[in-house]
Amino acid sequence: MEKENIYAIKVTNLKKAYQDKHVLNGVHFQVKKGTIFCLLGSNGAGKTTTVKILSTLITQDEGQASVCQYDVKKEAAMVRKSISLTGQYAAVDEILTGFENMEMVARLCHVLNPKKHAIQLLRDFQLEDAKDRRVSTYSGGMRRRLDIAMSLTGHPSVIFLDEPTTGLDPQSRNSMWRMIKELKESGVTIFLTTQYLEEAEQLADHVAILHDGVIIADGSVDQIKELSSNEYITFSFQESKEMEKMLDIFSDHIITSDRDALNVTLEITDGITQVTNILTLMKTHNLAPTSFNQKKASLEDVFLNLVDKKGETYV
Ligand SMILES: Nc1ncnc2c1ncn2[C@@H]1O[C@H](COP(=O)(O)OP(=O)(O)OP(=O)(O)O)[C@@H](O)[C@H]1O
Ligand SMILES: [Mg+2]
Repeated sequence: MEKENIYAIKVTNLKKAYQDKHVLNGVHFQVKKGTIFCLLGSNGAGKTTTVKILSTLITQDEGQASVCQYDVKKEAAMVRKSISLTGQYAAVDEILTGFENMEMVARLCHVLNPKKHAIQLLRDFQLEDAKDRRVSTYSGGMRRRLDIAMSLTGHPSVIFLDEPTTGLDPQSRNSMWRMIKELKESGVTIFLTTQYLEEAEQLADHVAILHDGVIIADGSVDQIKELSSNEYITFSFQESKEMEKMLDIFSDHIITSDRDALNVTLEITDGITQVTNILTLMKTHNLAPTSFNQKKASLEDVFLNLVDKKGETYV
């Protein structure tokens, strides 16, 4: 017997162009089974294209990709049996109720007891109270939950969630995050795309940043954050004239300032030496902050930093 593979997804040198527009230019990554992988990238980076290739909706021009050890090109039918793709049932029947939609999918998937299965999943996704309402009356968050519930029906090993929380309000987003974490606990592998870096920080075991057709950073959120050793220091002041003076003195270094909160944030690229110099200069100008705090670069800071330095490969 072959040793069990620890990877649910393997992607090697993936290339894809639409006519003469090269979207993927040699993408590599691997996703371990039972983890949440998050593909990050700006608008048009090629996230959906990657999801479509992996879920066999389109084929790559070059390179290999496998899902659950099945080749997406040569064994597409087996890949389809192993996955679910939300959005797949986005054409949920608006006229049918939540229950009728769920039951229909359960029948299509030859579930033994479709009614029982439908009720159970609707309950799991907090849709039981709305089960007899037409989907046309559901909110965006409810539709998204129904969509995921329906796509789980075939017990997929890998779930693709392409921007699952775009357009959701903060409460629905939190409930989606909870659901995604619960899905992971049930053992499935989750492939998530998002533009919200906070979402990746909340959920992902592993992040890859897609930019200019290649992966420019790949690792855990903490590893990616370490790619930037930069820190930020924020000084708060009592009076606006002190803040203005600070802005004047450090006009070359200021990253952000908040005139209402009377604070100023500087980027620290040279550790303690730079902090000491800043404090000395402030003292010379009789600037005494009411408080200050220092923080490491967030995933967002690192992302913007990496994407600014186009095309270089970091990991
Ligand atoms: N069928 C197509 N024909 C031509 N160009 C396409 C097609 N599908 C996508 N593209 C282009 O390929 C690029 C990548 O698109 P893709 O949808 O994969 O990006 P994305 O990272 O998912 O973006 P978003 O964050 O906006 O969802 C974009 O420039 C897009 O306009
Ligand atoms: Mg997309």
